[in-house]
Amino acid sequence: MKVAYWLSKILAGAALIVLMYGFVVPSVGFHGTLERIKDGKVEDIPAYVYPLWNFYQKDRYISINTPQKVRGDLRKMIEISEEIGVPSMPVWKFSLEAPNYPKEAFPYGLPVFIHFDGLSGEVHEMNTINHYVGMAHMERGGIYERALAPYALIMLALLLALFMIYDSKWIDFLMAIPVLLPFLFMGIYGYWLYWFGHTLQSGAITIKPFMPILLGDGKVAQFTTHAFPVIGFWALVSISVLSLAAWILKVKACKNHVDRQATFLRHGLAVCVAIAALWAGLYTLMTDINVNTLAKISAIVGTTKPKPVTETIVQPQIPSVNTQEMIEKEREAERKEQALKVKALEERAGSLGKFKVSPLYKSNCAPCHGVNGEGAMGTKLLGLKQEAMVQKLLEYKQQQEEMHIAVLDHMSKEEIQSVIDEISRFEAQ
Ligand code: HEC
Repeated sequence: MKVAYWLSKILAGAALIVLMYGFVVPSVGFHGTLERIKDGKVEDIPAYVYPLWNFYQKDRYISINTPQKVRGDLRKMIEISEEIGVPSMPVWKFSLEAPNYPKEAFPYGLPVFIHFDGLSGEVHEMNTINHYVGMAHMERGGIYERALAPYALIMLALLLALFMIYDSKWIDFLMAIPVLLPFLFMGIYGYWLYWFGHTLQSGAITIKPFMPILLGDGKVAQFTTHAFPVIGFWALVSISVLSLAAWILKVKACKNHVDRQATFLRHGLAVCVAIAALWAGLYTLMTDINVNTLAKISAIVGTTKPKPVTETIVQPQIPSVNTQEMIEKEREAERKEQALKVKALEERAGSLGKFKVSPLYKSNCAPCHGVNGEGAMGTKLLGLKQEAMVQKLLEYKQQQEEMHIAVLDHMSKEEIQSVIDEISRFEAQ
């Protein structure tokens, strides 16, 4: 029984190592970095963050818009404002294929990776699409969970360490948390998918509220979607299995009176790990205070005060046969109109090969205005006056205009200027 007892501790130790390596170290270490970059406070980023991020990026997906020579080098990527993902292990992958993302240019479709504490992949590009079907920004999803993730991960590591040190029944029971970890993640993820599919605002294309697919292939408007678990999920499963095995072995061993007594040595060890956990928690808290996480959360939440979808505004009285017919007709007309729009978009995609545009235009404007500015869902931009367009976009940006805010939010005045310069040269091509 001694063997089972020690094996239980070793298995718990293995679970702890996976947890620390895959989740705790990268998420606590990187915490607050994206906020600091966004706020232009790059000098506040601790020096250790650069090698940490670079180390975890090996073999990870990086946006295809990112130039080859800066990939995997955080400092250079910040310098040229590239899209940066969090370094913890990605747990789930969501990817999308659409006519305007041809296979030659996007061999992996348009992937976004969901992590405990954030996102990585083509998040910006995905937001443009989401906006186009009236869906909220991806950062809005799991917003509270993501903020709490580093703290929760620290607690979990503390729990596993205490399980190894003590033989208390209470700590044993708490092992149910790491055992259920993969299900916990899927539950939270599923909830937010539901939220996204049911908190729609008016986009260029109107879609009915729906449940985005959690696992497997699906379809949204003209987009084909794929969703499946990736490495981080299997890490969670291994933590779960190791914890369960450790738990069972310990219960068995302790039944055969292996000493459950707390000794001085155990207390001493426990104090050490508690201090380490407390320090990590305080460090995270100081970072949160420094980057003002609370204000940032409420700002993001404020951008999606859910507006009711048209169908819920229908008169409260029971509609007569006539009005019901009318509603049906209207819906039919809407459906036809949308089918036409989709067709227009698909035709535009055909000309993508011949027509060269910058990544800035391609990812931000092309989905709505067509690859060559000819217009699709959005208006035709060819032939418009350059100054008038810049003026319009600055107005849109200032007024937080719905159709453009998703893209303009991320663009500086200079970037707007340069993309308009480009558009005004389209006609010559
Ligand atoms: C989600 C779809 C969408 C995206 C993305 C988008 N637009 Fe638009 N854009 C529209 C729609 C729809 C209109 C028409 C709005 C209206 O008339 O009120 C429009 C209008 C405009 C206008 C004004 C045209 C006029 O007639 O005055 C300009 C300029 C413009 N967009 C440029 C851009 C640029 C540049 C980008 C990329 C940075 C962009 N848009 C991204 C959908 C979009």
